[in-house]
Parts: sequence; C-alpha cells; structure tokens
Amino acid sequence: MSEIYSEIIGTGSYLPEKVLTNDDLSKMVDTSDEWIYTRTGIKQRHIAADDECTSDLAVKAIQNALDDAKMSAEDVDLLIVATITPDLVFPSTSCIVQKKLGLKNAVAFDISAACSGFVYGLTIADSMIKSGMYKNAVVVGAETLTRIMDWNDRTTCVLFGDGAGAAVLRATNEKTGIISYSVKTDGDYIDCLKATGGPSATKTSGNIFMEGKEVFKLAVVRMPEISKEVVAKAGKTMADVDCFIPHQANIRIIDAALKNLDIPEEKVVKTIEKHGNISSACIPLALDIANKNGQIKKGQNVLLTAMGAGFTWGSVFLKF
Ligand code: UT7
Repeated sequence: MSEIYSEIIGTGSYLPEKVLTNDDLSKMVDTSDEWIYTRTGIKQRHIAADDECTSDLAVKAIQNALDDAKMSAEDVDLLIVATITPDLVFPSTSCIVQKKLGLKNAVAFDISAACSGFVYGLTIADSMIKSGMYKNAVVVGAETLTRIMDWNDRTTCVLFGDGAGAAVLRATNEKTGIISYSVKTDGDYIDCLKATGGPSATKTSGNIFMEGKEVFKLAVVRMPEISKEVVAKAGKTMADVDCFIPHQANIRIIDAALKNLDIPEEKVVKTIEKHGNISSACIPLALDIANKNGQIKKGQNVLLTAMGAGFTWGSVFLKF
C-alpha cells in the first residue's frame, strides 16, 4: 500500500473589525508608538466584539478555508481547534464550531499548546490522516487573547490581539503536503509565560503574564534549531525553503532567527505589524495571507516554525 500524505488544499483567516492602534494604547498606558514599533514591529491589533467569541472567529476562518478548498462542510471528518482562549471551559470550542458550521461528520477536539498550537495541530492531523481513518481535516488556530489581558500592564497589553487562521488538509498518495516535522515541550518554563488563573487553580481565567526577556532569549535559539532539524529530516537544505512562516511574536525574534538560518528576507512572511501576537492564529493567518497574495505558490516548500508558552515549540516542512 502506498504511503499517505496530508496536503493543504485551502487556507482561510479572519480578523475582527475593531482595530486598536499603538496611538490608541498610548492613551491607556504609559507607552508610545515608537516604543512598541521599534521593540516589536507591531503597529496595531484587532479586538473581538463583545458578542464575538473564539468560536465565531474560528468559524469565519474555516468557512474561508473551505471556500478556498472548494470543500463542503459535510466532507470534513476531523476538526482540530488550537486555542488557549476557549469560549467555555467545556464543551470544547471545537464542539461549538462543529455545530455552528454544520461539520456533522467531523470528530472534533481542542488542543492547548499556546503559540505552537497550529503547528502541533498539523502534526496531529497528519498522524490521523496517515492512519487511514481520516481524509479531510480542518486545523484552526483561533484566539480572543484580549479577553485575558490586563489593560494596565504595558509589558503585555501592547503585544497581543485577536484573530483566527485555518487550513484544510486532504489525504493523498502523492508525496506532497507535510513532509517532516518536529514538536517539543519543556515544562521547566511554565512560569515564564502563562495565564495567572485557571478554573482549578484559582476559579478564574487570570491574565497574561510574561517574562519577555526569558522568552525572547530562548525563542531566538530554539526556533532556528528546530527549523534546521526539520529541514534536514525532509532531506532538504535551507536553500530549498521557498517560504518561511515563523510565529509572529516580535519582529526582532523573526529577524534574529533569519540570520541564524540564512534565509533571505524576501522568502519570509511577516504580518505582525497588522495584528500583533495572536498565539495559535499567527501562523495560519500568515499562511493564508501569503497564499492569497501569491507569495506562496503551489508546489513550493514552506517552513512553519513556532514557539510559545509551556514552553512548546515545533516546526513543519511542507510542500504546498
Ligand atoms: O508568543 C509567545 C512568545 N512571546 C514572545 O516571543 C515575546 C518575547 N519577548 C519580547 O518580545 C520582548 O522581550 C518584549 C517586547 C516583551 C520586551 O522587549 P525588551 O526589549 O525585552 O524590553 P524590556 O522588557 O527589557 O523593557 C525595556 C524597558 C523597560 O524599562 P527600563 O527597565 O529599561 O527602565 C520596561 O519597563 O522598556 C519598558 N517597557 C515599556 N516602555 C514603553 C516595557 N513595556 C513597555 C511599553 N512601553 N509597552
């Protein structure tokens, strides 16, 4: 029997309508457009409306991706929602999305891997597709991070935003789609980047807390490291990478990673300026933007690399 691969046949994304600029933020906390832009590369972020939940953002991104894939809702047999800001503690956001979109033939579950959520999700979908039991999967990263923001904390509130990005994967016997990947976890860093509450620990949802410098220092080492590992695993070299999509947390982290990886500027997708850090949604959102604006073409080699709370980190090498 020939081997099964998972190819991406559609991408989609959604950003809420409301925009909060750096200038808007400088009226709320002691900060400035100059500080935020030079330290992070962020100009603005999107904020979900009061009646908009993570599931609503996910639904819009998935619909967009299904349209791109020309796939109907009933054909989806697997739905993975990566999020750290679920609508409710339970049921999972994926069950809510399943109902809202009529994905009635899909088994649906959430995963929590913070900024690495989409990368983790792709690897899980790939394994399930490779098992032969699933043919059409949707992986979505969706977040309403502004709901767990401390709007008085300038060290975090300038960094994060809301949004969603999705990809539709299909089983194929051709050697294309996901070629290699690696995902890692190091729980020694649980206190570096976290929510300060949770249902079991505090009976609240808490706010985002981050030791920015610590995260920064590790991200600039681990993201290039795992990228190199995954490209080598695919039997390729960095020169074979046509498009690199790193997690969009800080433009300085991306630029440091690039130097270490020897990937030229024009092969990199940078979207952070427009939306800030949206955790699991960043990579699929950037993938969708690059797909729709022609920066990635069918058949090209794409490298996705993320790192986030946990720490979790991971990389996927795929033929688009
Ligand atoms: O998505 C998961 C992964 N997350 C990340 O990768 C984020 C990683 N970390 C970072 O991106 C950066 O560490 C930050 C953007 C969070 C911070 O940048 P930094 O260059 O590490 O700045 P810093 O924390 O060292 O702060 C420098 C100064 C401090 O003042 P002093 O102590 O030098 O007087 C801060 O109090 O900037 C001050 N500061 C601010 N000033 C104006 C911190 N936040 C702000 C602010 N506006 N919003």
